[in-house]
Amino acid sequence: MYYLPDLDFETNFKNLQTRFPQIANDIQFDRLIPDTIDSFYHQLDEKAKDFDNDGRGKSYREAQIDFMVRHVGIEKLFDLVAPNNQAKDLTSNHKIIDILGGNGVLAKCFNKLFPNNNLTILTSDISASMIQDALANGLLAFRQPAHKIFTYDNVFDGSIIAYGMHHLDDPIRCCRESWRILKYGGKIVIHDFEIGSNVDKWFREIVDKYSITRHNFRHFTKADFTKFLTEAGFHSVTVDKIFDPFCSKDLASHVQKMYGLKLTKDEVWDLINRYFGTYKLNNEAAVQKYFIMPRFALVGVGTK
Ligand SMILES: C[S@@+](CC[C@H](N)C(=O)[O-])C[C@H]1O[C@@H](n2cnc3c(N)ncnc32)[C@H](O)[C@@H]1O
Repeated sequence: MYYLPDLDFETNFKNLQTRFPQIANDIQFDRLIPDTIDSFYHQLDEKAKDFDNDGRGKSYREAQIDFMVRHVGIEKLFDLVAPNNQAKDLTSNHKIIDILGGNGVLAKCFNKLFPNNNLTILTSDISASMIQDALANGLLAFRQPAHKIFTYDNVFDGSIIAYGMHHLDDPIRCCRESWRILKYGGKIVIHDFEIGSNVDKWFREIVDKYSITRHNFRHFTKADFTKFLTEAGFHSVTVDKIFDPFCSKDLASHVQKMYGLKLTKDEVWDLINRYFGTYKLNNEAAVQKYFIMPRFALVGVGTK
């Protein structure tokens, strides 16, 4: 597969320049000489398999149609990446890159939470089908791997590496690449789950066993996160936990699709209750019930 099945690298770049001049002028197109683009993306295709259409990408994106399910944790990530720790104060003056952006859930959620802010968010991902979907939804998106971002040095105010850090072969190299593209004073936020947590157990015992792509990855400790950020050059490093629940009217179906589980909805519902417990929340109008699946995630923050 070339860059994207229906769009080449140069055309995507030129489209971005026209539609999003606030960011596209910072894209460093010459970091890849045209002859190598094909082989570069060919190598990425292999790495992107889990989230492409042959993997669980299609069902993952179906789950993300309700992009507000993780809004509590996502808002917290934007708080942490903001210069004053307030997501609501991120505006069109700020440029944020979502390094493992998938099809743009973080951007969609931010825009829904803060519809007037016009924050510039570049959704970046290794997977062609994720980026195709983000572009089809009108988002600013570019296919590129976490360890090689096609922008000049010192261009972003914030970089978020979330919901998938365990997929990275070399997290320190990827954090270093974020350091390069951040402005001095800019912040990185890394997010994943802690070894020994109920999410870690869930991935090892359920997702690895029942997902169509399996899930044999190591999660992280607080010490890992501190090491990644300090070795990548960041200062003022902190590592904490955040509440990062799923909130959904149809929780079992969301979880089934998100992880591509070969289980019935009832089986998924029982497992969710066994691993996490659930509780109900009425929305403001008290008409429809939201089910909450409580989870805690590990977040590291550093400043360039
Ligand atoms: C669990 S998904 C999260 C997507 C999105 N952030 C969300 O929360 O819905 C992980 C994403 O990381 C992407 N990914 C995995 N390895 C990557 C890499 N080396 N560079 C860039 N993206 C990568 C995958 O293609 C996938 O879209």
